[in-house]
Amino acid sequence: MSEFISKVKRTHSCGALRASHIKSEVVLFGWVQNRRDHGGLIFIDLRDREGLTQIVFDPGLSKDAHALAESFRSEWVVGIRGEVRSRGMQWSKKENKEVPATNPNLATGEVEIYVSYAEIFNKAETPPFEISDHVQTSEEKRLEYRYLDLRRPNLQKSLITRSKMNAATRSFFHENGFLELETPFMGRYTPGGARNFLVPSRLNPGKFYALAESPQLYKQLFMVAGFERYFQIVKCFRDEDLRVDRQPEFTQIDVEMSFVTQEDIFTIIEGLLKRLWKEVHNLDLPTPFRRMDFDESMAKYGNDKPDLRFDLHHTVLTDLVKKFGAEGGVDARMLEAANLKSGLVKAMVIPAAHALSRKDVDELEAYVTGMGAKGLARARLAENGDWTQAPLFKTASPALKQAILDATGAKSGDLILFQFGKESTVNTIMANLRVHIAKKLKLIPEFGAGGQWNFLWVVNPPLFEFDEETGIWHAAHHAFTRPMDECLPYLEAATFDPAKVYCYRYDVVLNGFEIGGGSIRLHDPLVQAKVFKAMGISDEDARSKFGFLLDALKFGAPPHGGLALGMDRLAFLITESESLRDVIPFPKTQRGTDLMTLAPGDVDEKQLRDLYVKSTPPVKA
Ligand code: AMO
Repeated sequence: MSEFISKVKRTHSCGALRASHIKSEVVLFGWVQNRRDHGGLIFIDLRDREGLTQIVFDPGLSKDAHALAESFRSEWVVGIRGEVRSRGMQWSKKENKEVPATNPNLATGEVEIYVSYAEIFNKAETPPFEISDHVQTSEEKRLEYRYLDLRRPNLQKSLITRSKMNAATRSFFHENGFLELETPFMGRYTPGGARNFLVPSRLNPGKFYALAESPQLYKQLFMVAGFERYFQIVKCFRDEDLRVDRQPEFTQIDVEMSFVTQEDIFTIIEGLLKRLWKEVHNLDLPTPFRRMDFDESMAKYGNDKPDLRFDLHHTVLTDLVKKFGAEGGVDARMLEAANLKSGLVKAMVIPAAHALSRKDVDELEAYVTGMGAKGLARARLAENGDWTQAPLFKTASPALKQAILDATGAKSGDLILFQFGKESTVNTIMANLRVHIAKKLKLIPEFGAGGQWNFLWVVNPPLFEFDEETGIWHAAHHAFTRPMDECLPYLEAATFDPAKVYCYRYDVVLNGFEIGGGSIRLHDPLVQAKVFKAMGISDEDARSKFGFLLDALKFGAPPHGGLALGMDRLAFLITESESLRDVIPFPKTQRGTDLMTLAPGDVDEKQLRDLYVKSTPPVKA
């Protein structure tokens, strides 16, 4: 055992020493970041998770330590004892005089340690890439050696922030009377929601557990059991197609409360977010956050998670186009789209000040066709009132043009972009285009907040979604969301109209990312039965799918509701990281693989037999 670890204790981290420590004797442990030999003196930067300190080996002080330092290489793990000294003066060729040798870019830049004793804890092979934030190496390589990548100061900083967020979250909830209760990861498969990962049961041949996509049903049972205020920082598992803001296993800050309104939940969640931003950025977030109706969000921004750091809103022109029709000179394709059962015509004005050229707009057209659009219709408004570069409006009557100007607020010099077709496609394309243009025009940075933390509650969405393919109404979120009382008549046979049933569901959005979502739950079995009926779920079906929850709701369930925040997304946004992977210690790739452990991996026939499972790999074409 080394003398350092058994007898002498480390006195400071590598980020701690300042001018006030000059003359003290210190012991530091860490990794050799680099080594420079300078006329007899050897310098190293010693690194640990708190920072870097410059260490000097002077043969005049200790021949042994100097000799040892000659062998040091990058990433060796060493310990040193020495005296803290001021960095003093150094010769500047540029200024042709002695200047202070302090390094203003380093927290410890005023001092250096003159070593009297050193020890090597462990040597290291040359790493496959340099440990530095100026990364040149591919992400694949870095994920393969994730434990080395995790030595990078930026990643260390992000994970330290995430640790602080966990601690602040726990104290916040404990202070507010919440209990931290655990729920099983392995449960029974229930349909709906995300696709589940399945785990075969060895003890119950042919049966499977599902890994929890969220603790939703269990947290409701906690309310039935009378725990009133629950939270958990919990892993969730979803076998989804991955996107930039999705991982197959991710972490939720999960919350459920009894005897509350939607507003009570907003107050708690705003309180938590306030606490997190104070802790991490020392910022006082203004609350309450802005609210927006789901319908308004869809109409103006094309989705339910609008980035409101910039405007560029959409205008819905479907009714206007139908009103003017072919007689008013509406282009035949546009009119056809407006007349579809779920057709939509939308416009977005790009103000003249942004000066998008014809070439720029051609590039935007290529961008939207890449997403499946047929093209990007446009009109540029000349000073004299003419519509140029506007082939779709060649036959448009002056009244139609004026009506479009009135609806969109477009002025001369502006550019209007149009999309028309199926509602969901038009919305997706226009929502993405809006953000794409904002980045292109530098209204928002490529990633990071750009100094604006724009929080929003999106509220009052419809309870059901109509599935065009099956002709069935589905619960847009989950089947246990409470409809608004005034909408209950639309669940009755005589006045049945599922499209008009709005509900107590809400999402919290930050800078265009959905950071959390939840609802007030349906605790009344009678209304529950009506909702199932509207969705075409029979009593037997409901029992086989949700039996235990339906039973529980009959035994005195208090009114309750909750929400879950996505911890990974929160950490990614608060640290202004480039990718969700930067705030997850051991993340998966877009294909759901772990390049370090090579998961998912093969298992042998016997293991499969023990689990009563047969593997049928895809047949290669
Ligand atoms: P929901 O499905 O909206 O709600 O999830 C809550 C939040 O979790 C985050 N999230 C994800 N983060 C990373 N990778 C993923 N694959 C992923 N999927 C979701 C998002 C999202 O807002 N039980 C309900 C909550 C409730 O009703 O109380 C639920 O899970 O930030």
